[in-house]
Amino acid sequence: MTVKISPSILSADFARLGEEVRAIDAAGADYIHIDVMDGHYVPNITIGPAVVQALRPHTAKVFDVHLMIDPVDPYVEAFAKAGSDIITVHAEAGKHLHRTLQLIRSFGKKAGVSLNPATPESVVEYVLDSVDLILVMSVNPGFGGQSFIHSQVEKIRRLKQMIGDRPIELEVDGGVTPETAPLCTAAGANVLVAGSAVFKNGTYAANISALRG
Ligand code: DX5
Ligand code: ZN
Repeated sequence: MTVKISPSILSADFARLGEEVRAIDAAGADYIHIDVMDGHYVPNITIGPAVVQALRPHTAKVFDVHLMIDPVDPYVEAFAKAGSDIITVHAEAGKHLHRTLQLIRSFGKKAGVSLNPATPESVVEYVLDSVDLILVMSVNPGFGGQSFIHSQVEKIRRLKQMIGDRPIELEVDGGVTPETAPLCTAAGANVLVAGSAVFKNGTYAANISALRG
């Protein structure tokens, strides 16, 4: 299976976001990972739907939008209309995960669920029919540049088994580098998010291909 790379623009130059998105598109990114943080669910504040909408004309690639906001339901429509393709929510960020996933799909978008390092894979067991992507956080959400938490590799493996032959993507986010990427793909991940490993040194194409292994 070929791995997809979803560079996180959290590590981009925020003063030149449109150019940065075009640059990672040209460098071979498969998806564009957009980290949305509210200063409440996570201890950091990033971008909102207006920025997603402003970036939309800069690339035709899939917008992989990672919502780290609580409550999340009131904002799903705005992110859908801003041009998101995949909308991923945290399992803990709403009271009714199944309802949230249905809401995302009601706008014709792919629905993702993200699991924090301490969250067991069992939280998705009974919603698999409503899920298009599962995102395993291999750092605690909130900041780029943190170290990969190795205990998550076993979770990726268990999720891969749970998914079976369902058409669900398995994505890993946090501390993904050319060293940790092979651990994720060997365990069954098919989408890798990387911020600092893609944007370091300005060599985006080489950095992306290094992650593909
Ligand atoms: C963290 C974000 C990640 C982050 C990854 O909360 O969800 O997407 O940008 O950054 P790196 O790859 O630097 O760990
Ligand atoms: Zn993310």
